[in-house]
Amino acid sequence: MAGFAAPGLRPVPLLPMECDMIEDKLTRDFLRVAERAAVAAARTMGQGDRRDSDHVAVEAMRLEMDRVDMRGEIVIGEGERDEAPRLYVGEKLGAGSADATEVEIAVDPLEGTNLCATGAPGAIAVLAASNRGGLLRAPDCYMEKIIVGPEARGAIHLDATVGENLRAIASCLERSVKDLVVIVLERERHEQLIEDIRRAGARIRLIGDGDLSAGISAAVRGTDVHAVMGTGGAPEGVLAAAALRCLNGGMQGRLVPAKPGQAERLAAMGVTDLKRIYTERDLAPGEEILFVASGVTDGTLLRGVRFFGHGMRIHSVVMSLRRRRIRFVDSVELSDDPNVGVEF
Ligand code: FBP
Repeated sequence: MAGFAAPGLRPVPLLPMECDMIEDKLTRDFLRVAERAAVAAARTMGQGDRRDSDHVAVEAMRLEMDRVDMRGEIVIGEGERDEAPRLYVGEKLGAGSADATEVEIAVDPLEGTNLCATGAPGAIAVLAASNRGGLLRAPDCYMEKIIVGPEARGAIHLDATVGENLRAIASCLERSVKDLVVIVLERERHEQLIEDIRRAGARIRLIGDGDLSAGISAAVRGTDVHAVMGTGGAPEGVLAAAALRCLNGGMQGRLVPAKPGQAERLAAMGVTDLKRIYTERDLAPGEEILFVASGVTDGTLLRGVRFFGHGMRIHSVVMSLRRRRIRFVDSVELSDDPNVGVEF
């Protein structure tokens, strides 16, 4: 049977309702995992303690993960086993029986720890799941990135100049460069980049943290974000790539060892070509990808958690690659009080 076909669109293939897909089996559970981490972190908003914000998000995510019927392994997490007691790379998770779904998982229980600790916009709780080998085991180093929406996918190149990339993006979006907004992490290392973007004539939104949620926004029309440029975390790059696969966005990234010993660690992991450019497909090659993010503080795409005495409201996005489905989920949880009402 043909799937739904709007005029001018090719039919979306219908997949069986009940099947073995990671995306079908784990969507509800992973939404709950992200929501719990977001709620825990949101309780600490503005308390000025980024470590505590991160800690409670990690604990909440870890606790919830073990209730999921899966056999999961963390491939992007809070660090190596010796530096992170929970959600470390290689940690096995889930309450899975022998025949439970096998998944590899990338997590960032609180992306934007400073944003949460100061109550600034853009903090989210994130996780992605895929089949074996579906998410690159990127080391905890930096990644030089350029991220765009579907229209400009394939038109960008990390080795092109900033001006060339911006002109290519503008042309794909049928506008002039001065109508573009580029998000850049406000860092000293980006002084030249910022100058180049200004010289090319585009507008800039500098952010204190959170290039992952910025990357997701760049792939969604109407957010007034047209590109993300600059160097941020490599793990965030893999998570962004997972979302971009679902959103048809485009990305190029290059690993950048920044701290002493990182180049050696990369080499030990088999990464010897430091000039290699990774696309969103290289970073998240999975056939199945489930991506979930819940807002902690208000952001461009997601609202932060709102508490209203006898309940709370949590805003999330759930993306499924094979189902070709992006869901925005607005969960309202009420206390047992029979008189409690829903707050908008
Ligand atoms: P945390 O959530 O770990 O605080 O990371 C936030 C973040 O801004 C990321 O979004 C970004 O990729 C990375 O840190 C940039 O790292 P740095 O702060 O070292 O420039």
